[in-house]
Amino acid sequence: MSIDPVLVKRSFAAVEPHGSEVTAYFYRHLFDHHPGVRGLFAEHLDDQQDRLWAALGALVANLESTDTLVGILRDLGSRHAGYGALPEHFPAVGDSLIATLRHYAGDTWTPEAEASWAAVYGVVADTMGSAMAAAGPAPSSG
Ligand code: HEM
Repeated sequence: MSIDPVLVKRSFAAVEPHGSEVTAYFYRHLFDHHPGVRGLFAEHLDDQQDRLWAALGALVANLESTDTLVGILRDLGSRHAGYGALPEHFPAVGDSLIATLRHYAGDTWTPEAEASWAAVYGVVADTMGSAMAAAGPAPSSG
């Protein structure tokens, strides 16, 4: 399935105005449905919530600028190696991300929009995942 940037941008634009409600929903969904990843995150998530969604905004804004997009994803991926994130965590995060977008996107959420987001997330997971693997496991912090 290929990515339709128009559908991705339109649905993201419908979600964005809901602000911090969106990030709260995302983490609640993630920790309720995939409790195994809770321990990787700090106890208080306020800053973290903003950064994750700012990163998502940057990805959406650069969907058609492949070099920039890949650069952002490689940087993110190498930092995630240090957070204890593993390739097997990506489906959980993708599931909660799609559920959150679906919840807030209103009429812009169509089967085509969902398929495009799934394709975007596939690229994200592949690119971040290979950068994570290249960066190696998290250094132990004594
Ligand atoms: C769409 C994919 C993802 C995006 C856009 C994303 C984005 C971010 C951003 C922007 C940060 C803030 C720190 C930084 O910029 O390096 C962060 C931190 C973090 N991410 Fe992700 N992330 C993604 C996927 C994942 C996955 C699959 C996991 C694995 C469970 C994960 C776990 C974490 C953890 C544990 C932190 C640090 C949290 C803390 O400080 O408590 N992320 N992520």
